[in-house]
Amino acid sequence: MDFDRILVTAALPYANGPIHLGHLAGAYLPADLFCRYGRMKGKDVVFVCGSDEMGVAIMVRARKEGVEPQDIVDRYHPQIKEAFKGFGMSFDIYSRTTTAVHAETSQEFFRTLAGKGIFTTKKERQLFDPKAGIFLADRFVVGTCPTCGNENAYGDQCEKCGSTLSPMELLHPRSTLSDATPELRETTHWYLPLGDFQTRLENWIGQHPEWKPNVLGQVNSWLKDGLRERAITRDVPWGVPVPEDVAKSQGIDASGKVIYVWFDAPIGYISATKEWALEQGKPDEWKKYWKDEKTRLVHFIGKDNIVFHCLMFPAMLMAHEGYVLPENVPANEFLNIEGDKLSTSRNWAVWLHEYLEEFDADLLRYALATMLPETKDADFNWTEFQTRINSELADVLGNFVNRTMTFAARFADGKVPRLVNPNDIDKYTLKELATFPNRIGTAYDRYKNREAVFETMALARLGNKYFNDSEPWHTRKSNPQSCANAIHISLQICASLAVLLEPLLPDSAQKIRNMLNLAGVRSSMPKDILDPTSGGSTIGWDDAVKPLLKEGHVLGESSILFTKIEDEVIEAQKAKLGAKPTQMETELAFAPLKDVITYDDFAKLDFRMGTVLSAEAIPKSKKLLKLTIDLGFEKRQILAGAAEHFEPEAMIGRRVAIVANLAPRLMMGMESQGMVLMAEGRDGQLAIMESIGEDGAIIK
Ligand code: MF3
Ligand code: ZN
Repeated sequence: MDFDRILVTAALPYANGPIHLGHLAGAYLPADLFCRYGRMKGKDVVFVCGSDEMGVAIMVRARKEGVEPQDIVDRYHPQIKEAFKGFGMSFDIYSRTTTAVHAETSQEFFRTLAGKGIFTTKKERQLFDPKAGIFLADRFVVGTCPTCGNENAYGDQCEKCGSTLSPMELLHPRSTLSDATPELRETTHWYLPLGDFQTRLENWIGQHPEWKPNVLGQVNSWLKDGLRERAITRDVPWGVPVPEDVAKSQGIDASGKVIYVWFDAPIGYISATKEWALEQGKPDEWKKYWKDEKTRLVHFIGKDNIVFHCLMFPAMLMAHEGYVLPENVPANEFLNIEGDKLSTSRNWAVWLHEYLEEFDADLLRYALATMLPETKDADFNWTEFQTRINSELADVLGNFVNRTMTFAARFADGKVPRLVNPNDIDKYTLKELATFPNRIGTAYDRYKNREAVFETMALARLGNKYFNDSEPWHTRKSNPQSCANAIHISLQICASLAVLLEPLLPDSAQKIRNMLNLAGVRSSMPKDILDPTSGGSTIGWDDAVKPLLKEGHVLGESSILFTKIEDEVIEAQKAKLGAKPTQMETELAFAPLKDVITYDDFAKLDFRMGTVLSAEAIPKSKKLLKLTIDLGFEKRQILAGAAEHFEPEAMIGRRVAIVANLAPRLMMGMESQGMVLMAEGRDGQLAIMESIGEDGAIIK
């Protein structure tokens, strides 16, 4: 770490759902390890993050639930913030993009770039949904990807092949908002011509051969294809408004136009830093981190965000001038769960807030850090989680600290004994101990967290081996000084661990410090720059090279660090995967009530009781069942959209209510003479409204 000042960002998560392990493994845990390590090294670290609350992803969620986008972000932002806190994320600020500071900052950025003539504008025809009354941007439209043929590509990106798209490039575009056929309507938008920055971006990327190969691979393939312009405004009702003065000066009507979420969201990092500076009572302090070349700016993200952080945002920063560019963008690959792709819709995910109800944060920090998708996609599985906790944290680390504390209490009067005439193993072990801060630190500094974890545990293993080899349980009678030396050195290893474990296992490191009664260790949490005494603690990362405990120092109370996790507990976690998403279910809103009707409207409907005589599937239809229904006075053929919910046989003999005076309709070439009433739950499940009353009975 040659930089003294470090600004770290972690991707702003969309506030449209809770945080899961995929998020943590991609961006948040690596970012937190890096920041906590940096602070232990004594660096000036500012770590910013916040909720990404604009964009179509939020609107899609709101529409699904029949509520406003603001309701969605107001529900998830606090929930996400709370879960991050529980996981131990050491943000200096966790903000959100619906703040006034963010709107001003993004608009100012847009205004500056427009003023420099960076943007182009284009009047063109775009897809419009006449029923929903909205232009079909981003996730409002799906269609066939022109690159890979995926039939469900979004209007901004194909998630299968990773291409970025615009709605007009989709083959067979369909609206996700209604069944209307999209029309073309004229509209004007601002574009960022990324091609103008191609050479500058290439030169800059060329100076960073040290970036991770998975990141450089993606970036270079983009550069090779040639960068194209990207629309940076949208006609949607949710987002940071396009500044009116800019639009006016260009003779464009800005009403209903907002800034594209991928333009405003990364600016959110700047807004968050400004808000942090305001909170510190030093409003200009943010500039030090964004505008001074001595800052090391690092963006932690998942691989789906690479293009935005390595090309688009840097181009924006270059265009604005005066900003530092990222020194690195250590993106991670994806995390699978139990061998399967993570999917929130199938509930194939481990949700952070649910995890935290049952386990300690440290256990997940540890296990996940050993499984991070640093170079390729990786897999999280619960059995491995259990093994990591039981045979590494409990059996190695916990055991070592526990034996050491027990021996010190029983045979050294709860104090650090004197070290006298150390033998070869003693000297070797102390020499080894001195190498660890650098070994672990170098790995963190190079974003090799798995290696850092391995090296950290290697110190606990060294401790255990030393304890075994010196056999203090024998020497305590035969050679009491040798026993005292073994306890002394084991305690010193515990003390160094209590410092070096801080990034990875902050709660456990604190527990060890309590047991050792070791005070004065520097905090890995944010320091308050107004308080000159905080951060002034004396023991930092590099001090762990040498023995930290004085002879005669009185130790604290011993306690259990880790308890083993039983098989049943793990089985219960596995069973949750793919199970009905309880989370979503309780949060799905009820559809809003329809408009009021008069009694006369109601009286026009003729509902009758009937009995299902026969039911059969319709060969080419996934949804329809062909039913024959006995109304007592006549039989009806009704095509019901229930095939995805009921087996035909299960329908036979059921007593149903039908709308009997609905005009006949042709479906799949067959006539449907009415409708069967069913109750549709919030999750889309259908239930038959069974009732009594003879066939043909009027329902009113
Ligand atoms: N919300 C985006 C996502 O979840 C990430 C935004 S990162 C930032 O993919 F750069 F925009 F902040
Ligand atoms: Zn594709």
